[in-house]
Amino acid sequence: MPRTGRRKKKLFITFEGIDGCGKTTQAMLVSQLLTSERYQVKLLREPGSTAVAERIRELLLDANTNLTDTTELLLYEAARAELVGREILPALKAEQIVLCDRFYDSTTAYQGYGRKLDLRMVRSLHRVAVGDLKPDLTLLFDIDLKTAFSRLGKNPDRLESQSRAFFKRVRQGFLDIARKNRRRVKVIDATQSVEEIFEEVKRYLARRVDLV
Ligand code: TMP
Repeated sequence: MPRTGRRKKKLFITFEGIDGCGKTTQAMLVSQLLTSERYQVKLLREPGSTAVAERIRELLLDANTNLTDTTELLLYEAARAELVGREILPALKAEQIVLCDRFYDSTTAYQGYGRKLDLRMVRSLHRVAVGDLKPDLTLLFDIDLKTAFSRLGKNPDRLESQSRAFFKRVRQGFLDIARKNRRRVKVIDATQSVEEIFEEVKRYLARRVDLV
């Protein structure tokens, strides 16, 4: 392969955790690293990353929007269906590495465990939105609520302003998902420094891609 060419690799990695866990920073660092290693990388976020999904995101995060739990669930899945169909599947088909800041585990954790919606119903909606698509690797950035909350900004969005009890259930939900999907989901202690976390992230990445 010539030095200037882009390396092809079909790989789907998702970044998960409660608000304030630092996953967005890590997703950006991974994107920079893989790009510098000449991989073709697509960095996406959920909800969002398409014109329609960004509009759904605005609705979902607006502190003034009043949604029933079911509407909220369906809007997250609708944004996901857009992203999968328009961005993720085409990128994977073109053998690119897709990095997604949140994916369906967030819905299981927030709407399933957090809002206490029926988990079977939530999972069946994932299937409607994504079909058979499954991340190759999910990095779960686990953090205690106190540290996570201390990292959030002054103006919390609609989700960030939920109660501690809600976030406790969400965190537990993520850990349950990890326990049930040990091969796919790797738990990382997100109370460490950005550099220490990134070292751990790189160790998991190195099992999937060639890093110089
Ligand atoms: P972000 O702050 O990580 O960009 O995520 C937006 C918010 O939406 C965050 O509070 C988590 C929440 N969320 C859900 O409740 N369910 C979902 O399926 C997703 C993707 C995000």
